[in-house]
Amino acid sequence: MHLAMIGTGYVGLVSGACFADFGHHVTCIDKDTAKIDKIKAGVMPIWEPGLEGLVKSNIQHGRLSFTTDLKAGIERADAVFIAVGTPARRGDGHADLTYVYEAVRELAKAATKPIVVVTKSTVPVGTGDRIAEILKEEGAPEGCSVASNPEFLREGAAIRDFKIPDRIVVGAEDDHAREVLKEIYRPLFLNQAPIVLTGRRTAELTKYAANAFLAMKISFINEVADLCEAVGADVQEVARGIGLDNRIGAKFLHAGPGYGGSCFPKDTLALLRTAEEAGVEQRIISTVVSVNDDRKAAMADRVAKAVGGSLKGKRIGVLGLTFKPNTDDMRDAPSIPLIQRLLEGGAEVAAFDPVGREQAEPLLPGITFAEDEYETAAGADAVVIVTEWDEFRALDLEVIAQKMKGKALVDLRNVYDRAEVERFGLVHFGVGRGQYGANSV
Ligand code: UDX
Repeated sequence: MHLAMIGTGYVGLVSGACFADFGHHVTCIDKDTAKIDKIKAGVMPIWEPGLEGLVKSNIQHGRLSFTTDLKAGIERADAVFIAVGTPARRGDGHADLTYVYEAVRELAKAATKPIVVVTKSTVPVGTGDRIAEILKEEGAPEGCSVASNPEFLREGAAIRDFKIPDRIVVGAEDDHAREVLKEIYRPLFLNQAPIVLTGRRTAELTKYAANAFLAMKISFINEVADLCEAVGADVQEVARGIGLDNRIGAKFLHAGPGYGGSCFPKDTLALLRTAEEAGVEQRIISTVVSVNDDRKAAMADRVAKAVGGSLKGKRIGVLGLTFKPNTDDMRDAPSIPLIQRLLEGGAEVAAFDPVGREQAEPLLPGITFAEDEYETAAGADAVVIVTEWDEFRALDLEVIAQKMKGKALVDLRNVYDRAEVERFGLVHFGVGRGQYGANSV
């Protein structure tokens, strides 16, 4: 099949490269000339394991190409995927659909034959209906259809998630769109990937409901972690104990500094706005959002307690800045409010992240960037693990302890256990590890 992908951001680039790898002919389109030139030269705009190799090999095999010319890019396409950004709109938290509608207008004018327009970007319920109207208004050829095919890939594991998905969700209102999408995903059905074929609005809502549910699991376990600290229980064990029940499931029950990233914060807010407009209260989701906001804000207090109450004049080493490991994405990262508050409290902050420095620097003025884990610890009153990069899982704690001035290891991701840290004379401050007694903060 011939496919076009509008938008070479996270979702667009990964999906385009993976579709090409299945054997489809894919043209990726983006307005940003510099970005397209770089990708053509093999330089990826994002850091994602395995992506560079996949893009290069599919370009070489002639199945994947890149252009800034939308008209030429969609010329042969049977289906055109829209994977442009839908950021939260400033002020009201609504998903900003400007880029989506701009792409559709351009597409409608450029199309010379009926195409299936598929939204891959996360878009609020009803966006597909509006796209269908725009196609008509702008005089797109008769017989175009609009489908919704939300993406569930996780940053850092995006290629695997695309190729071995838990499910594929397709929402369409006509047989032609359904058949084209089934054909596009046929290579995955050979791996038994389940498909949920449904209506367009249902597919659109499914994506938001999935993200809100996952966010809810995290906020839930984070509140349970606070309770564990107060009553002398261990959240790690509680999570294991409940997660082994299949109805609950073991994943997404890691207590920590609150969720960040490009999806959960933005999508939960957008869902609340949709609900407001529909006049339906979403009490659970709005609580999930406020639990998470409060949690991020409270992390600096934990560090303050670990260094004796006041941050003034203290030196804090921060390990990990990105919102999670294996990405350079800093969007809504818990490290940002944490570090801002540490600075406001009068602390000096040195930080290290294996790949996120470039993205982090403009967001975190007033801190120094260390070259590695051990330099981060030099002279520090406390070292704080904010993102659980693999390289922080087996730190040489002897060296860390030697380099530090104080003794506090604030482990916001529960990477370590108390005993292994104490061997080196450090004090471990985990999250929800209430059995520690005095060390729990
Ligand atoms: C998420 C969804 O997983 C994906 O399906 C959707 O398409 C996009 O949003 P992503 O934002 O890449 O993907 O990251 P994810 O791995 O889901 O983590 C999100 C945030 O939750 C991170 O800040 C992470 O640290 C946090 N998290 C996750 C926890 O605090 N505890 C957990 O148990 C799991």
